Amino acid sequence: MTKDVLPVSRAGAPGPELHRRHGKLARRLAGLLFVLAAAQACFFLATDPPGRRRGAHVPLHAQEALEKCVAQTLVAGPAPDFRARTVSDRFVQGTPAVLVRGAKIWTGAHNGTEVLEGDILLEDGLIKTVGSVTLADVERRVRSGALKVVDANGAWVTPGLVDNHSHLGVYSAPALNGAADGNSHKGPILPWLRSLDALNTHDDAYALSIAGGVTTAAVLPGSANAIGGQAFTIKLRKTLERSPTAMLVDPPFDINRTRAAGATHTPWRQMKHACGENPSRVYSNTRMDTFWAFREAYNKASEIKAQQDAYCTKALAGEWDGLGPYPEDLQWEALVDVIRGRVKVQAHCYEAVDLDDLIRLTNEFQFPIAAVHHAHEAYLVPDVLKRAYGHPPAAAIFAVNARYKRESYRGSEYAPRILADSGIDVVMKSDHPVLNSRYLMFEAQQAHYYGLPENLAIASVTSTPATVLGLDHRVGYIKEGWDADLILWDSHPLSLGATPTQVFIDGIPQLDSPVVLHKPEVFQHPPRVPNFDREANETLRYEGLPPLAPTTADTSVVVFVNVKSVTVRAAGDLQEVYTAEKGRLGSAVVVDGVLSCYGHAEECAIPAQGEGTLRVVDLRGGSIEPGLTTFGSDLGLSEIRGEASTRDGFVYDPLLDPVPSAAGGDDALVRAVDGLRFAGRDTLLAYRYGVTKAVAVPLGGAFLKGLGAFFSTSAAHKLDTVGVIQPITALHVQIAHIGTPSVSTQIAALRKKLLALPADTDEEIARAFEQVARGVIPVVVHTDNADVIATVITLKKEVEEKTGARLRVTIAGGAESHLLAEQLKAADVGVVILSTRPFPGLWESQRILPGPPLSNGSTISTLLNHNVNIGVGVTEAWMARNTRLDVAWAALESGGGISKAEALALATTNLERLLGVERYAEAAELVVTEGGDLLSLESKVVGVISPARRSVDLF
Ligand SMILES: *[C@@H]1O[C@H](CO)[C@@H](O)[C@H](O)[C@H]1NC(C)=O
Ligand SMILES: *[C@@H]1O[C@H](CO)[C@@H](O)[C@H](O)[C@H]1NC(C)=O
Ligand SMILES: *[C@@H]1O[C@H](CO)[C@@H](O)[C@H](O)[C@H]1NC(C)=O
Ligand SMILES: *[C@@H]1O[C@H](CO)[C@@H](O)[C@H](O)[C@H]1NC(C)=O
Repeated sequence: MTKDVLPVSRAGAPGPELHRRHGKLARRLAGLLFVLAAAQACFFLATDPPGRRRGAHVPLHAQEALEKCVAQTLVAGPAPDFRARTVSDRFVQGTPAVLVRGAKIWTGAHNGTEVLEGDILLEDGLIKTVGSVTLADVERRVRSGALKVVDANGAWVTPGLVDNHSHLGVYSAPALNGAADGNSHKGPILPWLRSLDALNTHDDAYALSIAGGVTTAAVLPGSANAIGGQAFTIKLRKTLERSPTAMLVDPPFDINRTRAAGATHTPWRQMKHACGENPSRVYSNTRMDTFWAFREAYNKASEIKAQQDAYCTKALAGEWDGLGPYPEDLQWEALVDVIRGRVKVQAHCYEAVDLDDLIRLTNEFQFPIAAVHHAHEAYLVPDVLKRAYGHPPAAAIFAVNARYKRESYRGSEYAPRILADSGIDVVMKSDHPVLNSRYLMFEAQQAHYYGLPENLAIASVTSTPATVLGLDHRVGYIKEGWDADLILWDSHPLSLGATPTQVFIDGIPQLDSPVVLHKPEVFQHPPRVPNFDREANETLRYEGLPPLAPTTADTSVVVFVNVKSVTVRAAGDLQEVYTAEKGRLGSAVVVDGVLSCYGHAEECAIPAQGEGTLRVVDLRGGSIEPGLTTFGSDLGLSEIRGEASTRDGFVYDPLLDPVPSAAGGDDALVRAVDGLRFAGRDTLLAYRYGVTKAVAVPLGGAFLKGLGAFFSTSAAHKLDTVGVIQPITALHVQIAHIGTPSVSTQIAALRKKLLALPADTDEEIARAFEQVARGVIPVVVHTDNADVIATVITLKKEVEEKTGARLRVTIAGGAESHLLAEQLKAADVGVVILSTRPFPGLWESQRILPGPPLSNGSTISTLLNHNVNIGVGVTEAWMARNTRLDVAWAALESGGGISKAEALALATTNLERLLGVERYAEAAELVVTEGGDLLSLESKVVGVISPARRSVDLF
């Protein structure tokens, strides 16, 4: 043994060349250890084994030390013979083989462009064959009776989804204090913590996420710390052992300090880092403090690594004199491993400044970063990412979730395509439960809608995250020898509402009796998405803040040609008044903001006009539909949720704090209209996607929220022609499970107000409740809980019996309302569903009806079937723009039970009625789409017709 084989890990991150060398080195060192172990019996060796110098003193701990020196040379990644496996280490004995026949298979190969039509054989937890399989062949091969045949009938099949940024199991559903284990607050630098140690096996979300196709997830610690700890990758299925450990996929050796004899490779480890606002907020730090904490920690780890390398150089040369024990520190070993290039570092960093800091750190301490997460400004600084040590990190991002705090303010829906164009790998992630990972594919669908190519969009939730996690040797692809994790879809995975009909993990079907929807044929193809090149360019030009204010057409006449359908408000309802016949699209003429004519081109001809007084817009099969209304979020009262100076703020809760007498004391009643803020980015984005009106409600979790206001999302300010349409709509109260005051106390307060004697006082609150009690304005009770809803129904009866008047009551939230569909109908209580795709986030909203494939019908379809008045809203302002997709999804989930007009009514006429909006018709806009109707992923909103403004906005 000579010294030239001992350059132990001097480089930070071994490149492929170094990996090969280390692999060889490890094998040779393993041989050395064997010899040394054999000789260990005698303290002074008679002959000189390799690795020690003639006559040198070999200490007792030599073998242990040499083992550690070997361990530090192992290369991260699968063992070289991994491909030779014939049975998965996760195979469950007794699982029958499965033959999926006649599928359209997205394999992940060829940059995500390969699609095969054929069969897939799953056996021993692995994908054994992809392509053409004859049944006779398989039956011969597979143990008799242990084959299950699934006819795909041409359905799309993809690999199981890989969510590479999840807090499944560490932020569990329902959220309870006893299981809030995602963030330690013990200091900014905690590389020694492991998310595995907190993994709750009872999270309700596992089964839901599986139903959306997620099979593998990286579970990260939260982002309260600069270094939050080690992340672990799990498969989501239940295990026989029922333990967190049994869920792990390719766990690192260090979890139990075992490693096969002669191993040359070690599984990738994962580590969470975070920059920016979160660690700053928790530790009252600045960004400067956070990066000093990083540098101090990496300096410490570098010193330990240098000591280890020097130690092993001597030990392996047999120079034991003066060598004490192997230098190591359990707290720092994981960070040392980062510098050895064996950890996939997942860094939550948003802004240009954070990303620049982080990339400087990687070069100073020479370690690669696997991915930057959230990274809302990554698309603005791709060159910074390309300067990273080793290789550019991937960007793991949301599709349209942004602006929730300052560092996400410049987040863009065009980021995925811009990053991909810049050569950065894109991963769409959930940050579950921030987004429900059940709808991870929806993130890919939206990224595709805004311009990420089809192949990369599917890859962004399958093969790319698998690569980023260092797991692409076994998950993320449909290839022979990969894990038997796959999804059968009811439609093309990038089509809106695509839903798994079956999900296999390790070859085990996960859905017991899936409810399968039959989607129209057009959903079997990827949507032909609109072109957003201009918008993406503008986004870059304005560094993420392109102007969003609408521009008004400069002609009094606007003619829309190639119109497929026209739907308008008629007598408080919606009616499709024009539908093109096959192959013959129509036209529509708007004069001074009023739709004056629509129909076949010859019936609604382009008026003869002078030059420059008429504008013609080709809708290429687009539609004209009523503008939608949004409700439920802080839209209109807040711009950046995390920044008090950008919000109206929160109301006092008279059940908790004395309300200052200057504000009216406990009888103060707050009006949302007084706090409205116009022209916010979420508000204008909502407008650009067809949401022309909004109802705002005073913010805060208080029992008495206040009075709602109805306003236009396009207005520049309150005094705009169409700024405020109805300053007071309904009275809003909230009944929440918050400890003190109790739910029963809140109900007692509501009862007292409703039964108070008719107002003989000037107090506004008394007058408002009197109006509620007389049924003049509705009371909207915010709650998700079925027991509270039942109590509200009872209270309504009680008040009506006492007053003789009819109360107008609406439930907002309503996650559990399907349990009371009949009673709601009988009591004439309507519901505004705020989470159209429900999640059991809290105990009080746990009893959801999850919808297909887990249940027949959804909350919305159940309530509609019982003729309950229902509308839909959202919970966060950035979601408002997606209202059109939410109602489209609800219609798809109903399996054809909801027509287009009914779907649109959920976010227009129904919603408005339930919220006490009386004056909409005169101000109601029409939304114009190109390439398809408002409910489609193939359409783009290109304009809004405004009778009140007497004009047309064109985007
Ligand atoms: C992968 O596909 C994308 C988009 O279709 C393309 O831009 C890129 O060049 C492709 N990469 C390779 C290596 O072929
Ligand atoms: C240690 O973990 C590995 C990987 O999960 C496992 O294969 C092995 O059996 C474990 N050993 C012990 C002693 O638990
Ligand atoms: C998530 O995906 C990104 C981008 O591919 C990758 O860099 C990162 O390592 C993954 N995250 C985790 C926790 O594996
Ligand atoms: C977008 O910008 C690029 C580069 O600046 C330019 O080549 C391209 O023509 C622009 N596209 C559009 C649609 O403006």
